[in-house]
Amino acid sequence: MKKRPIIIDTDPGIDDALAIAIALFSEELDVKLITTVAGNVSLENVTLNTLRLLNFFGKDVPVAKGAEKPLIVEFVDASNVHGKTGMEGYDFPEPKEELLLSEHAVNAMRRVIMESEEPITLVPIATLTNIALLFAMYPEVKSNIKEIVMMGGSAARGNKGVMSEFNIATDPEAAQMVFQSGVPIVMAGLDVGLKALVMPEDSEEIKQMGKVGDMAYHLFKKYRGGSFSTGLKMYDSCAIAYLLCPELYNVEETYVGVELRGTMTTGCTVVDLRGYLKREPNAKVCMDIDGKKFREWFKESIAKCI
Ligand code: BDR
Ligand code: CA
Repeated sequence: MKKRPIIIDTDPGIDDALAIAIALFSEELDVKLITTVAGNVSLENVTLNTLRLLNFFGKDVPVAKGAEKPLIVEFVDASNVHGKTGMEGYDFPEPKEELLLSEHAVNAMRRVIMESEEPITLVPIATLTNIALLFAMYPEVKSNIKEIVMMGGSAARGNKGVMSEFNIATDPEAAQMVFQSGVPIVMAGLDVGLKALVMPEDSEEIKQMGKVGDMAYHLFKKYRGGSFSTGLKMYDSCAIAYLLCPELYNVEETYVGVELRGTMTTGCTVVDLRGYLKREPNAKVCMDIDGKKFREWFKESIAKCI
């Protein structure tokens, strides 16, 4: 089977770690590059975490370090959710430093996209600073991007502010640039992330699934994205699930803008389901997910991580 070439832009992050695992071990995806961006914790830490994960998984994927802060707003991390290091709870091996490119993430993305025979899918599971910079500096890349399948945003309420989701609210200007880029976008936001739950009985099964399952179980014990007993939110795996199993979702094609000047709602994704703004659709928004099937898919996917 021909694998689909993707670039993951990430900020590991406990849910990022699991999403990366599933993508790396999938027979359908070819992870060409992993780029990092400050988000859940600092750029230094998310990059070290990525290099640790790759050593742990035994996968040699090049890594490039990107933006250390948002374009305009102050950087505020989410170490309250993921722990101080971003992947608290497991004793990972040393970072595999030789995988770190000397190129900046934006330049590495440009090179990989332009060199690819097949159009690349971008999979941002973090704030969109690197992707916005890429489009601003190298708009020519757009012609060789198949689509962007992102985790971020919400058609309802938020998890960072009343109406804003973390990945968008961390760098709202960057998110707006990406939504206005003209590149096809799939948005898997909180509407599905909040229903993509791993329940305690799933965690017990996952614990038995070899070394990746054991690692996941230990991270789950520290993760504050939901609760171990009432369900852990696997936000970032929603983007990977869309690539591998789109039938899990109900999707609406619509216009999405990012609120930049709200007095209480900055960083909100304005999902215009009823066409009030009279603008052309620019995104497919995942409105709902089959939570039961997601749990099965997630467990099957982790079981394949060997
Ligand atoms: C998103 O924010 C981060 O904390 C998670 O890794 C995920 O990408 C969920 O809002
Ligand atoms: Ca993330």
